[in-house]
Amino acid sequence: MRAPIKFRYFQRIVFFTGAGMSAESGIPTYRGAGGLWKEYNYEDFACQRAFERDPSSVWDFHDKRREMVQSKEPNPGHRIVSAVQTRQPNTIIVTQNIDGMHQRAGADPDAIAELHGSLWRLRCDAENKVRADDSVPMNPRKCSCGGYWRPDIVWFGDQLDHRVVRRAREALEECDLLVSIGTSAVVYPAADMPRYAKQAGAVTVEINLEDTAMSGLYDHHLRGKASEVLAELDAV
Ligand code: APR
Repeated sequence: MRAPIKFRYFQRIVFFTGAGMSAESGIPTYRGAGGLWKEYNYEDFACQRAFERDPSSVWDFHDKRREMVQSKEPNPGHRIVSAVQTRQPNTIIVTQNIDGMHQRAGADPDAIAELHGSLWRLRCDAENKVRADDSVPMNPRKCSCGGYWRPDIVWFGDQLDHRVVRRAREALEECDLLVSIGTSAVVYPAADMPRYAKQAGAVTVEINLEDTAMSGLYDHHLRGKASEVLAELDAV
């Protein structure tokens, strides 16, 4: 593949990432072959109703995910994204991923907008407090107020944090290059966010193994594994 663009030609890059970004680390995607939602029904493990109904089985599910993610390493694709961000500090990462792999690959946490929250933060709804936590298994599951800690993740039916959405939108409206990596673009409102960059006149690139529901929006469709395509775009 001859790379139609090179990162070094751009001033304000946004990487918009999904589960395919972490697939090469051995973290299953949600909808692809071996996808998480093929094995688990999200209505039983990833929504507030399920948590209120049976908090311990929802926590068992998330403990397994934390354990699995902790056993994996960032892949070369994560490292390239972090390297570009270090080299070109106006680079922002807008991610749907909750695995924290961009941070583990050395990306500046202040330049990451986690649209769907994080596996590594907990929230006590009763006291509306949030704290970082990477204990596996997570313990104690109850907050000092007696309520349950819940993962600070945007589950199905939850609202996204409006501050994170605003931050992501601003970055997309100001970027000159948008690189979407490994998302099937079927979950809203995240799926629609790349449109802000397109409308603002940025060059838009979609990296994926296959066409997606949003492919029509992009100027360039680069089909291949994220780490391999990113290496091409980063090469001098
Ligand atoms: N390189 C590039 N793309 C890849 C790779 C790879 N190595 N492996 C898989 N992909 C692509 C797949 O072709 C698919 O289009 O990544 C995409 C993964 O899609 P999903 O599993 O639907 O994940 P994502 O789009 O991130 O899901 C969005 O849905 O379940 C919710 O909140 C969850 O954030 C998640 C949201």
